[in-house]
Amino acid sequence: MSEFASKVVVITGASSGIGAATAKELSKQGALLSLTGRNEERLAQVVDECKKLGAKDVIQVVGDVSKQEDLERIIKETADKFGEIHVLVNNAGLGLVVPIATFTLDQFDRCFNVNVRAALYLTKLALPYLEKTKGNIVNISSTGSTTYAFPGCCIYNGAKAACDHITKAAALELAKSGIRVNAVNPAGVETNFAVSAGLTEEQSKALYAQQAKLHPLNERNIKVEEVVDAILFLASDKATMITGSCLRVDGGRALTGQ
Ligand SMILES: NC(=O)c1ccc[n+]([C@@H]2O[C@H](COP(=O)([O-])OP(=O)(O)OC[C@H]3O[C@@H](n4cnc5c(N)ncnc54)[C@H](OP(=O)(O)O)[C@@H]3O)[C@@H](O)[C@H]2O)c1
Repeated sequence: MSEFASKVVVITGASSGIGAATAKELSKQGALLSLTGRNEERLAQVVDECKKLGAKDVIQVVGDVSKQEDLERIIKETADKFGEIHVLVNNAGLGLVVPIATFTLDQFDRCFNVNVRAALYLTKLALPYLEKTKGNIVNISSTGSTTYAFPGCCIYNGAKAACDHITKAAALELAKSGIRVNAVNPAGVETNFAVSAGLTEEQSKALYAQQAKLHPLNERNIKVEEVVDAILFLASDKATMITGSCLRVDGGRALTGQ
């Protein structure tokens, strides 16, 4: 039996991409899931699939992680339903490509609120539950947090750098409570991400075709499942002495500095 069977896992950004794939894999392993996203229809589809795949139980909490009341509702509804939390996956993310010359403070706030503030506030709210279960947190960062910079990515990469830092700082602060905190830092994974950031489908395809060449290992993009494997490894008992790590899943891209 999987160690995740009957474990309560909260996943933000579960209506698509990496979050949805993580939810589906955990469903096969019999977990209890609390899934969040703004798009009710897509989230409901993922919930249906999770039930079919064997999730022990699933709740959906439709909400926007940039809003304080929605973050509070995610933890309250999870606790009301399941009474405990073993793993928090802070996956909801928002890309942004905008030149310094034209960015607005609203764009800045939105990007940091979704990628950084939400993760830290959910960490705070989940703390009493994770203390009881000696649970853990996995934040989804990006290889862009540290290894490469390119025009237009000041805000998004800055947010992911902050995500790495809160991972390390929280890991140290929460170690005395037996709570581990780690991050997974993917490079290019072909999901809805670029489209959500404002690119057209065509531009997104072109971007990922270009990204693929930047991954020295096999010159292909990272598969969603390869990111899920890293998330579940860090969340599992195979990683009991791993905390404060930012695990790159990037096919060696960081080694090239691109
Ligand atoms: N794809 C890549 O190349 C790549 C590379 C490095 C890191 N990442 C990181 O991986 C994570 C997952 O991204 P993905 O590639 O799976 O992209 P995706 O397919 O666009 O999924 C993003 C998820 O985040 C949710 N989300 C966005 N803003 C939200 C908000 N304000 N409130 C609640 N949910 C919100 C979206 O749901 P709704 O639209 O329903 O709200 C969606 O479920 C992100 O943190 C991203 O930064 C991705």
